[in-house]
Amino acid sequence: MKTALITGANKGIGFEVAKKLLQQGFIVYIGSCDVIKGQTAVEKLRAEGFVNVEAIQIDVTDDHSVNYARTELGKKLDSLDILINNAGISGVKVDQTGNFLEKTWTAEQATINTFKEVYETNVFGVVRVTQAFLDLLKKSKEPRIVMVSSSVGSLTQQSDPQWPIYDTAKFAVYGSSKAAMNMYAVHLAYELRDTPFRINMVDPGYTKTDFNYNTGFSTVETAANRIIKYALIGQDGPTGKFFSEETNPLTGEISW
Ligand SMILES: NC(=O)c1ccc[n+]([C@@H]2O[C@H](COP(=O)([O-])OP(=O)(O)OC[C@H]3O[C@@H](n4cnc5c(N)ncnc54)[C@H](OP(=O)(O)O)[C@@H]3O)[C@@H](O)[C@H]2O)c1
Repeated sequence: MKTALITGANKGIGFEVAKKLLQQGFIVYIGSCDVIKGQTAVEKLRAEGFVNVEAIQIDVTDDHSVNYARTELGKKLDSLDILINNAGISGVKVDQTGNFLEKTWTAEQATINTFKEVYETNVFGVVRVTQAFLDLLKKSKEPRIVMVSSSVGSLTQQSDPQWPIYDTAKFAVYGSSKAAMNMYAVHLAYELRDTPFRINMVDPGYTKTDFNYNTGFSTVETAANRIIKYALIGQDGPTGKFFSEETNPLTGEISW
C-alpha cells in the first residue's frame, strides 16, 4: 500500500486531505505538533471506518521532533510516496476581544520576531521536513511533494491592482513566507527534475478554518480536492509549478 505523511493534519485542511488519501487507499500518517491532538484526529478517522491511519508527533519548527519522526517512520516504512507540507501559520494576531491587530502583518510595522515566527514554520519548517524525508521519498517509485501555498504569496497578484483581493490580501509576513517557500520548492523541483519526483505548490483557496477565524468562503473538502489532485498526479504531470484554482479556474496555474 502507498503511504502519505501530512504535516499539521490534526485539523483544518490537513485533516481533510488525510481523509481523502485514506479514501484513495493510502496508509496515512497524521503529522501533529501535539500528540493528543494527533491521536484525537486518528480516533475521529477510525470512528469513520478508516483503519490505515496513525498519528506522528511532528513540530516542523523543531529539528529534534522532525528527526525523531523520520526515525520512527523509518522503522515502519521502506518508502514514503507522498509528503504534504501543510502546516502553516499566518502571523496575524488578535487582541483579547478578538479584534485584529493590523500592525502585526504590515510591511511597515511587522516585527522581526513575527517574521521569524512565521518563517520558522512556513519556510524553515518546510525545508526541515522535506530534507528529513527526502531519502524515504526517493525510495518510492512515484514520489510526490505538495507544498500547501497561497495566492497571497504570488508577487504577480500582489502587484496587480486588477486582482480582486488586491487591497485586502496584504499580509507582508505571511505572503512573503509563502513566496519564499515557493522559491525553495522551485529549486528543489529543478534539482530533482531528472527523477520521478513531482513537486508542486497548491493554493487551497480561501477556506473556512481556524486559520482565518472561520471567515473563509470555501470548504475544506474543496481545498483538500485541490491538494490531492497534485499529490496523485501522474508521471506525465507538471513539476515545479504553482496552482490556484480559485485564481485561475481554467488551468489552475498562476504566476509567481
Ligand atoms: N485556510 C485558508 O484560507 C488558507 C488559504 C491558503 C493557504 N492556506 C494554507 O493551508 C495550510 C493549512 O491551513 P488551515 O487553513 O488548515 O489552517 P489551520 O486550521 O490553522 O491548521 C493549521 C495546522 O498546522 C499546524 N501547525 C501549526 N504550526 C505547526 C508546527 N510548528 N508544526 C506542526 N504543525 C503546525 C496546526 O497545529 P495546531 O492545531 O497544533 O495549531 C494545524 O494542524 C497552511 O499552510 C495555510 O497557509 C490556508
